Amino acid sequence: MANFPFVLITNIFFSLFHTTFSKVDSINLFQSISDGETLVSNEGIFKLGFFSPGTSKKRYLGIWYKNIPVQTVVWVANRCDPINDSSGLFRINSTGSLVLLYQNKSVVWSTSSFKKAQKPIAQLLDSGNLVLRDEEDTNLGTYLWQSFDYPSNIILPGMKIGWDMRTGLKRRVSAWKNTNDPCPGDLTFGVEFDPQLQTFPEPSLRKGSAKFHRIGPWNGLRLGGQLELRPNALYSFDYVYNNDEMYYTYNVKNKSLISIVVVNQLTSMCQRVTWIDADQTWRAQASLPRDYCDNYGICGANGICDITTSTSCQCLKGFKPKIHEKWNSMDWSEGCVRNNATSCQEKDKDKFVKLSGLKLPDTTYSWMNTSLNLKECEAKCLSNCSCMAYANTDIRGKGSGCVIWFGDLIDIRQIAGAGQDLYVRVIASELAKGDRDLMAVIIASVVAVVSGMFSAGYYIGRRTLKENNRRITPENGAREVDLELLLFDLSTIATATDNFSMNYKLGEGGFGPVYKGKLEDGEEIAVKRLSMTSRQGIDEFKNEAALIAKLQHRNLVKLLGCCIQGEEKLLVYEYMPNKSLDSFIFDQVRGELLDWPKRFQIICGITRGLLYLHHDSRLRIIHRDLKASNILLDTEMNPKISDFGMARVFGGDQLEGSTNRVMGTYGYMAPEYAYNGHFSIKSDVFSFGIMVLEIVSGKRISVFRPQRNSLTLTGYAWKLMKASREIELLDACLRDSYDSFQVLRCIHVGLLCVQQRPADRPSISSVVVMLGSESELPHPKKPSYFMETDLPQECSESPTSNHITMSVVGGR
Ligand SMILES: *[C@@H]1O[C@H](CO)[C@@H](O)[C@H](O)[C@H]1NC(C)=O
Ligand SMILES: *[C@@H]1O[C@H](CO)[C@@H](O)[C@H](O)[C@H]1NC(C)=O
Ligand SMILES: *[C@@H]1O[C@H](CO)[C@@H](O)[C@H](O)[C@H]1NC(C)=O
Repeated sequence: MANFPFVLITNIFFSLFHTTFSKVDSINLFQSISDGETLVSNEGIFKLGFFSPGTSKKRYLGIWYKNIPVQTVVWVANRCDPINDSSGLFRINSTGSLVLLYQNKSVVWSTSSFKKAQKPIAQLLDSGNLVLRDEEDTNLGTYLWQSFDYPSNIILPGMKIGWDMRTGLKRRVSAWKNTNDPCPGDLTFGVEFDPQLQTFPEPSLRKGSAKFHRIGPWNGLRLGGQLELRPNALYSFDYVYNNDEMYYTYNVKNKSLISIVVVNQLTSMCQRVTWIDADQTWRAQASLPRDYCDNYGICGANGICDITTSTSCQCLKGFKPKIHEKWNSMDWSEGCVRNNATSCQEKDKDKFVKLSGLKLPDTTYSWMNTSLNLKECEAKCLSNCSCMAYANTDIRGKGSGCVIWFGDLIDIRQIAGAGQDLYVRVIASELAKGDRDLMAVIIASVVAVVSGMFSAGYYIGRRTLKENNRRITPENGAREVDLELLLFDLSTIATATDNFSMNYKLGEGGFGPVYKGKLEDGEEIAVKRLSMTSRQGIDEFKNEAALIAKLQHRNLVKLLGCCIQGEEKLLVYEYMPNKSLDSFIFDQVRGELLDWPKRFQIICGITRGLLYLHHDSRLRIIHRDLKASNILLDTEMNPKISDFGMARVFGGDQLEGSTNRVMGTYGYMAPEYAYNGHFSIKSDVFSFGIMVLEIVSGKRISVFRPQRNSLTLTGYAWKLMKASREIELLDACLRDSYDSFQVLRCIHVGLLCVQQRPADRPSISSVVVMLGSESELPHPKKPSYFMETDLPQECSESPTSNHITMSVVGGR
């Protein structure tokens, strides 16, 4: 099997070992294609012929890449009407339509009739488009019919996804039901548009009739907030809207690059994948939806989703939660309502507040006119009491065009670095209130800067940092660090921890002890003190501080600040009263405090934190030391990933790296990392998989041993799964509270994550989807086992160098 997210693709393709008789390029009225024959495009890029998908024996007429060894079917004619034998025949009939016949007479599929051609020919173009045209008609590009108008599950370069207003044709892409059946499943991709109401067109994914993910409307440069669609050297994107048609399309700039967009039922994703010749596999460049905030309408009406904040959802300015109790328990479905009864009560008493960096709201109830400017747009919105917001339709230059929204605003999210401005209607009095808030922040900042006492003015200082992103650098000769961090005074920390007293010691981290502390204002903190002797620790310290200062997510532990003074190097974190995950799951008594729903919630939380690290933050971060003892729990038992001492930051495109200094924790390290020093997001996925199995089983990977010298935890789980007895893996103390679907799902996902080959492991974004859906999952291959050694347990819990011997054994 190839790279995991592309299971579907690999399955769409299968072997076609017929002896084929290829015809070149086109057939005319007197020719046909029978089962076993193929039609090849002029330059030999695509082939058309009969095939059977996956394990199916049924026959379909389709188009696939001629030179790609994993058969990649890009279009199917008779998607839901297979032929049961090899009697299929494809030809042009006497009325000039394309027809698919079987047993020589019955029609299973045909194109609709249109004006009859003098000399009709069916031609397979090198773009993958099957066209019917009149050979007499020298007007290139005018077709009587083309397969590009009826896409299957794949968008090829040059295809138009959208509407033809002249013919009423709406081109929508739909996933295959499953790998053995090209009939449309319920996941589709197309453009939402109402020409009568002149709505702002936008592409979206639907599941059945329900919206599932909005990509965001075209803003002149790209779709919504999709960073992937920024101008680049590989693809060009286009959006066309005129009286005749409205569509999106893309093209590949270098013809030797094979890159397509696939709608995938199994993963519920729309993905751009590229053929990597060296690996002989399809690899994903981008997948949608990407994260939690990409779920359609997750924050309800008038809510705004921000993946970097602890609560994800906030109400728009001037709005409050409709039902506070629900909102506070993170059920955002009811959304937000206006603070005050309604706007529009007094003439001219409404104003607009500008929100920046957004994916614009759902455009179902919108109206657009590209000739209006922003000023006219505001006037237009003010003149209608149901108008809630307005924005430019095109953000190029100073911006142009006008779109306004009526009624509730749905599905807004914050998109760092790619979003745009939205002007939301508020009552003038609300705006004044906002100004007062802003003033308070400014005054606080000034006070902090003037006083220069960052430790005493702790709260103020923190606010300065957050709200103004002001850079604070150390004073009194301390080494300059280029960090946007709050600096604590050593004496403050010393006081808070009773001079680093033993009584305050929480434990020993990778590079030194961790203390609990209490600041003067009562706030509890955790202080990580770097051991003074460790030279290599200083790099890790700076690494960790610089990195984590940039990260903000509710499933990552929050760094409050640091302290560098003389030899002392300290990191100050928010305090986690419930310590780490391992103190619960591996403890018979405390283990019972974490029932199954809590454990599932913890697994999902870790997944979200990891998703943020791998895909959603501005940087791509590989943690390299994920393990249960690095997952901290807050008062509500929400998991927070901690200890970034060994994390590595990658540029946007870099996916893997390698090192000579293999550091990590025995049992959690992926084999390619432990042996060759290769680390990647997939080596983190491996460690994640181990944690999932530990959380389900309550057994440590490092000491698990049902019988002496027997299988490791992963091997045991896999064997149980093979025997359909996975549920036996479940921690005995959970036997009363579990949801068996969730448990089986977690074990299954855990095993997918610990597969030997990194390429076989799912990405964390796939894991999110797998945990949240009921779709079928691929079968995990035999995991890579770490055999037990007689290492004492302490070694297995602290970072280790590669001198520790490990052996990988195959399954038995
Ligand atoms: C297109 O890509 C191929 C292979 O990556 C490369 O050798 C070639 O130089 C590229 N052509 C252009 C025009 O960029
Ligand atoms: C858009 O606005 C311009 C300027 O007011 C107007 O002339 C034009 O008719 C409008 N177009 C539509 C489609 O409403
Ligand atoms: C306001 O806009 C809505 C939606 O387009 C429309 O139905 C209504 O008639 C408009 N009201 C006024 C006063 O123009």
